[in-house]
Amino acid sequence: MYVLGIVGSMRKAGNTNRLVAAVLAAAKETNPRIRTEVVHLADLDIGPCEACYDVCGEVPYRCVVEDDFPELLQTLNEADGLVLGSPLYYPVPSRLIAVTERLACLAYFHDMRRRTEPHLLEGKPCALVAVTGGSEPLEVLRYLFGFALSARMTPLTVKRYPYYGAGGKGDLDEDTDLQPFETAKVLGRLLAEAVAR
Ligand SMILES: Cc1cc2nc3c(=O)[nH]c(=O)nc-3n(C[C@H](O)[C@H](O)[C@H](O)COP(=O)(O)O)c2cc1C
Repeated sequence: MYVLGIVGSMRKAGNTNRLVAAVLAAAKETNPRIRTEVVHLADLDIGPCEACYDVCGEVPYRCVVEDDFPELLQTLNEADGLVLGSPLYYPVPSRLIAVTERLACLAYFHDMRRRTEPHLLEGKPCALVAVTGGSEPLEVLRYLFGFALSARMTPLTVKRYPYYGAGGKGDLDEDTDLQPFETAKVLGRLLAEAVAR
């Protein structure tokens, strides 16, 4: 079993990375057979959708833009589960927005043309993580939740605020309000159980 963490921040060793890593560690602790890996969007060249409306609708996942997106899509396809993390950049980093735009290739192929081939990300369990400088992370988590649903993934929820995933404000070690690392442990356990199903 393979769980992929995606760090949406442009800072590779920042708060998003710490919280994504905490969820992955908890998943692995729950089930040591889980292999984990992290992809930093900061390392990838991914541009916006050019809205040609044609190519990806005809040939599955083929895009006219030549950059790192096809490789990312392949890695997403191989993963049994995902941890998707983002900081608040009002709303999120533009490279993550570019990824959400480019994933529209799935919608163009499957939803608009009503194809019956299996959907690449259908039902993949997905844990969500958001950090901010001090604002509530709920807005970012809701954004990621909508993104996960639109890509037909299955976002996991927790029974404590902020419900849509793990969120942290400011210095994560000092965040006694949201207790991001406690929620990350819960999420990691849920993710490990979901990928084993
Ligand atoms: C462009 C940009 C916009 C940001 N906007 C906000 C904001 O509106 N509210 C807030 O609390 N923090 C904001 N932040 C701060 C980050 O969300 C915060 O520092 C976060 O912990 C960074 O995560 P990272 O360490 O993974 O990069 C912003 C940061 C950047 C770079």
